[in-house]
Amino acid sequence: MAEQIKNSTTYFGYPEVPENNDLSILGISSLAKLHLNNAGDPWVHGNAKMHTKAFEQEALDFVAHLYGIQDDYWGYITSGGTEGNLYGMYTGRDYLVNQNLKPVFLFSDSSHYSIPKNAHLLGIRAIPLKAQSTGEMDYTQLESTLQQLDETEGVILNINLGTTMTGAMDSLKAINDCIDTLQFPREKLFLHIDAALMGFIYPFLETAEPLFKNGAHSIAMSGHKFPGAIHPCGIVLTKKDKHDAAFGDNWIPYVGSKDTTISGSRNGFLALNLWYIFQKKGLQGFKKEGMECIENAQYLTQKLKDMGYPDVFQFPNQIIVTFKKPIPELVRKYQLATQGDMAHVVVMQHITPSRIDGFCADLERSGF
Ligand SMILES: Cc1ncc(COP(=O)(O)O)c(C=O)c1O
Repeated sequence: MAEQIKNSTTYFGYPEVPENNDLSILGISSLAKLHLNNAGDPWVHGNAKMHTKAFEQEALDFVAHLYGIQDDYWGYITSGGTEGNLYGMYTGRDYLVNQNLKPVFLFSDSSHYSIPKNAHLLGIRAIPLKAQSTGEMDYTQLESTLQQLDETEGVILNINLGTTMTGAMDSLKAINDCIDTLQFPREKLFLHIDAALMGFIYPFLETAEPLFKNGAHSIAMSGHKFPGAIHPCGIVLTKKDKHDAAFGDNWIPYVGSKDTTISGSRNGFLALNLWYIFQKKGLQGFKKEGMECIENAQYLTQKLKDMGYPDVFQFPNQIIVTFKKPIPELVRKYQLATQGDMAHVVVMQHITPSRIDGFCADLERSGF
């Protein structure tokens, strides 16, 4: 364990907070010894009583409130962003199939690797759209692809709020403009948002759009990324009417619950993690941390540029900074994620200005 604790101070490349002291209390509480299983639907308690669904509901309400859909949503705590994306796409598929439409899945090729995998698992025809060089969706590609579909087809569109490598955020406004220009029928569309990293930062940006008011139908985010849960977990939310239209009433007598989730048994301890974090930080806490991380990312960007370090890029309002891949020793020390000649730092809460100074000093010493 000493190795992991040492590595946590140079954990720069992936979007997780490597330790969260706030949560130590859960590890030592009497709750840690209990079997906590939130099997099935969060709102239907079922026959077994060893669950934390009351905490799950409050945690979900917190996120629904953040997105302004507290009176009109369905959702659950997932095992992570991947499962949340799978669920959003699954809802979209069944929503379209129930209207006798053939689902087609559109996603930009800068999307996370789990996105095309999910389409494969769901058996949906998937069309990758070439992204712009920043990683943002190319809206002309979207428009021309939508134009080529025939009238028996419906579309599930993945919208990135923070791509994995560059952190690019797609513009729902630009997407809506394409849809309106083509007069593509809204009932043939299902818009899913992958906000794995930015889910708890995006709503606080001055440039944020009211996503669900402007046409989004589902959103997935990771709980172990920006929120800082120590165990991998996530949240998926869907608009309730779309969820009902997709799945109806899936009642399973054996568990006394609805079969609305992907996994049957679900880890009830994750709901405690998230509930506790949400109580402790509150919306204002997330806003403050998000703005600090963006500022620190700007600090890193500026420092790298001032040093003359090559290929430095930060998407506006992002906490990811990309740059030329450094020497292997530094890739290893800082556990950097790399893609081709590019590497990135995800400026999470633990990456303070003084740690950034240390990182930049190491880069200087490497001679680039
Ligand atoms: C944009 C994006 N989507 C989805 C995921 C998958 O999230 P998870 O690792 O929580 O399954 C990631 C993970 O890095 C991601 O960056």
